[in-house]
Amino acid sequence: MLIRSPKDWELPESAATPERDYLLRPRSSEPSFPRRDFLKAFGYGAAGFAAAALLPRRLAATTAGFPTRINPAYRDPALEPTAYEQITSYNNFYEFGTDKADPKVRANRGWQTEPWTVEIGGLIRNPLKLDANDLVSKMGGCEQRVYRFRCVEAWSMVIPWDGFPLAKLVKLADPKPEAKFVTFTTVHDPRNIPGQRSGILDWPYVEGLRLDEANHELAFIATGIYGRPIPNQNGAPLRLVVPWKYGFKCGKSLVKIDFVARQPRNTWQIMAPDEYGFYANVNPNVDHPRWSQASERVIGAGGLFGGRQRTLMFNGYEKQVAGLYQGMDLKRNY
Ligand code: MTE
Repeated sequence: MLIRSPKDWELPESAATPERDYLLRPRSSEPSFPRRDFLKAFGYGAAGFAAAALLPRRLAATTAGFPTRINPAYRDPALEPTAYEQITSYNNFYEFGTDKADPKVRANRGWQTEPWTVEIGGLIRNPLKLDANDLVSKMGGCEQRVYRFRCVEAWSMVIPWDGFPLAKLVKLADPKPEAKFVTFTTVHDPRNIPGQRSGILDWPYVEGLRLDEANHELAFIATGIYGRPIPNQNGAPLRLVVPWKYGFKCGKSLVKIDFVARQPRNTWQIMAPDEYGFYANVNPNVDHPRWSQASERVIGAGGLFGGRQRTLMFNGYEKQVAGLYQGMDLKRNY
């Protein structure tokens, strides 16, 4: 991944909207939620959908047509969420170009993310191939969690994700004892995804976690941001979120989740094994071979070029996740 200087379209802090405004202010530009089949299934119908829109926003925010509940356990008041516009216009999604501004434009030129089929397979007792909406209903709907997000390129955001804990999906899959890792495969559709017609990465984009990492309470599958359906450029309709790891672990637009016996090779590890490993835990004491990881640029803070802050061990989730790595040499690029 390249480090580049900010472009003039990157928003200054003054353009950032505080989170409370998102929770309270109705947004006329909100996309409509086309997934009424889910609402029907739950006995709402058109009248119920309208009524839901009248509920206080904290209760009624929807994700891909799914109600989402704010989970107070994952809402640190010290974290100021990054503005929606920034989260959705400063993206890494190489399938749609390598510039941060490319995915918002190119992933919305007719690329369809609904309907969407996802397959869950491998060493499990309950293999499934189902529609993304059906998966979310099987997961019992959505909750909202505010997580720090740290890219390996040394920039960061704070993102209110809507979705469900990955551990619920693991439970549904019911892994066999031989399953030790989980792989996440992104859509491969070169006809409709321009970047996949080039050899810039080894397609499709794949990522992986150890099974106990996937089962950790913080690991999450996002289907929304700020209570709105997750935009294509952020990985619609299903995208992995692992807040204590560098952002490249968070595979987007997932079509396949496989339970496997051996540690898989992830895309960036295949592309540049000297620079990117499998674990990729955020660590201020281990520099990238080409830049320091001791601090990070906070997108949307401190003016045009972003404020800087110290990088936190495991991106601030050390207490929760350090136990997963006991006995491992955290300085090694595994
Ligand atoms: N997933 C796919 N399929 N393709 C990608 O290029 N980029 C990764 C990750 N997931 C990427 C991907 C990287 S490097 C980062 S930092 C995050 O997505 C960026 O997520 P965001 O665009 O929602 O901020």
